[in-house]
Amino acid sequence: MRVLILGGTAEASRLADALVGDGRYAATLSLAGATRNPLLPAIPVRIGGYGGAAGLAAWLRHHATEALVDATHPFAQAISRNAVLAAAEARVPLLRVARPEWRPVPGDRWTVVPAMQAAAAALGPVRRRVLLTVGTREVGAFREAAHHHYLLRSVDPPPPELLPPDCRVLALRGPFTVEGELALLREQAIQVIVSKNSGGTATAAKLEAARQLGLPVLLVARPPGTGDAGSVPDWQGALAWLEARHRVRASRLV
Ligand SMILES: NC(=O)c1ccc[n+]([C@@H]2O[C@H](COP(=O)([O-])OP(=O)(O)OC[C@H]3O[C@@H](n4cnc5c(N)ncnc54)[C@H](OP(=O)(O)O)[C@@H]3O)[C@@H](O)[C@H]2O)c1
Repeated sequence: MRVLILGGTAEASRLADALVGDGRYAATLSLAGATRNPLLPAIPVRIGGYGGAAGLAAWLRHHATEALVDATHPFAQAISRNAVLAAAEARVPLLRVARPEWRPVPGDRWTVVPAMQAAAAALGPVRRRVLLTVGTREVGAFREAAHHHYLLRSVDPPPPELLPPDCRVLALRGPFTVEGELALLREQAIQVIVSKNSGGTATAAKLEAARQLGLPVLLVARPPGTGDAGSVPDWQGALAWLEARHRVRASRLV
């Protein structure tokens, strides 16, 4: 069964790993090409955009794709919208892997903001030491709040011109542990963390560490989902979906 996995997330990579060597599937992992040295699974990988929904639909048809799994990041809106449109156009079943968002528990000091600019403004007028775990695309928003000291942790360093003036970059790939996060927050005397509400486990340790240290967290709210695809919360759910589709396919071929 020919499968396309739209990736760029831990879930997509885990699903791809689970399909390695499984003769029932011919799967391809699709990456945008945003990360310089992505961790690649042992299945075919396609890197780069399709040229919008029509291009993705054309790819699906050309490769006779039988199942499309959208396991992209919850903040990657364009590709998910394209997946819905392309799947409908090419008549390919679509599944969304939608990580549940993080929810506060007692002890959390979270402020939810609607966008990155609002997070920068919410840091306030007094200079603070800020841990930014917001990726690299939108870090430019913090140039508007140039009086703070920033520690930006991201997989790749962003172009220097995007950075606020007082910013150190820590190029690191998760997952992270609570112990490691506690040590980082203490060593760097961090006073506030800014993060997207990405959900998932790979980067959740910072929230537990912030709770233990009583630190405030500015959390950028999720954009609305595309809503049109069936969804599962994790890669195991996606694997079960593929297996169910494969069983139906096999029964039709008997
Ligand atoms: N946004 C985040 O916070 C975030 C965080 C971690 C990982 N990521 C991953 O990084 C990638 C880019 O994120 P983004 O927010 O820039 O996405 P986006 O705004 O939704 O997508 C922008 C364009 O990039 C291409 N694209 C995105 N994901 C792709 C994929 N998996 N395979 C092939 N092309 C893809 C598409 O180009 P065409 O229209 O030309 O097809 C899409 O229209 C995504 O794969 C996402 O899973 C994003």
